[in-house]
Amino acid sequence: MTEVLNGVRSVDPGAEVGFVNLQDAEIKSCIGCETCMKKHIAGDYDFRCVHGVDQDHFHFIEMQMRSADAIIVSAPAYNLLPPGILIRFLNKMHASGDYRKVTQSVEACKVGACFSIGGTDWTDYTPNIMRMITMELVGVYNGVIDSVHFDFLNAFQTVMLSPEVTERMHQMGVNVANAVNYKKETGKNAEYVGTEGICTYCHSNLLRVDPDGSVYCPQCNVKGSVEVRDGKLCVSFTEEELTKSRWAPYGQDLHIENIAKGHKKAAIGIEDIKKNYNENFKELVSEYRIGFPALNK
Ligand SMILES: Cc1cc2nc3c(=O)[nH]c(=O)nc-3n(C[C@H](O)[C@H](O)[C@H](O)COP(=O)(O)O)c2cc1C
Repeated sequence: MTEVLNGVRSVDPGAEVGFVNLQDAEIKSCIGCETCMKKHIAGDYDFRCVHGVDQDHFHFIEMQMRSADAIIVSAPAYNLLPPGILIRFLNKMHASGDYRKVTQSVEACKVGACFSIGGTDWTDYTPNIMRMITMELVGVYNGVIDSVHFDFLNAFQTVMLSPEVTERMHQMGVNVANAVNYKKETGKNAEYVGTEGICTYCHSNLLRVDPDGSVYCPQCNVKGSVEVRDGKLCVSFTEEELTKSRWAPYGQDLHIENIAKGHKKAAIGIEDIKKNYNENFKELVSEYRIGFPALNK
């Protein structure tokens, strides 16, 4: 990440740069109460989280992100995925007030990029999910202009033996700085220059095959067409299908609509929910739950 920031400074020596190490931050886990979601649906974006803005570092990081032109995310691969600490941070994004609302357009999104490393090649989900996380922090996929992943860098700081990695990281910084300048000059997002995938919307290289044999990009939920050419599986997505990506305005609106429908159903059925739970589950939940021993802190 330091070399990425060097790359940014090589284009724009006056750029204010800095990095947030989530390992240094305290981020309370989202408890799934959906209070922030209900408040946002009701139009109250001042509300952040039931945890309170001064009870962990989420709000501090949110403010750092708000003031940034660009956000670059990096992580190692843990269990084929980005580490839990990054997912925990992502889970709290609902508690960022109107952050997503203001960044969720091609015009207002931030410039983004991401990179990851794995100890071996057990990393299939990592780069795909890194792009998704970056898109969530940046606002839209179109803002993510670069991404790359490196395998077989396992022992601590082996990356120091890999000048080609350092070189690529420097280039990522150059790409980000150029994309920020381009956006300031033209109001447009720069072209994506990262590792290509199958999906032309999110650049994922994953596929979902449904029981009926239809094939989708699982990140975008966009249907693709497949054919085998010279023994090679080729997947394509029409422009029309791509507009239905779950991350495009169509998908986002549908998602909010479905959440609102779910909350409405729960509000209408509140008495039945309480009755069913109290009569059939409440005691069993207490009975089955395994308590934790006190810790020796
Ligand atoms: C808990 C844990 C799980 C890991 N899981 C994977 C994995 O699934 N695939 C992989 O390639 N490397 C895995 N690794 C190795 C790390 O990705 C690798 O060491 C990485 O280079 C560490 O980067 P760092 O030096 O920036 O911490 C794992 C490491 C840890 C600590």
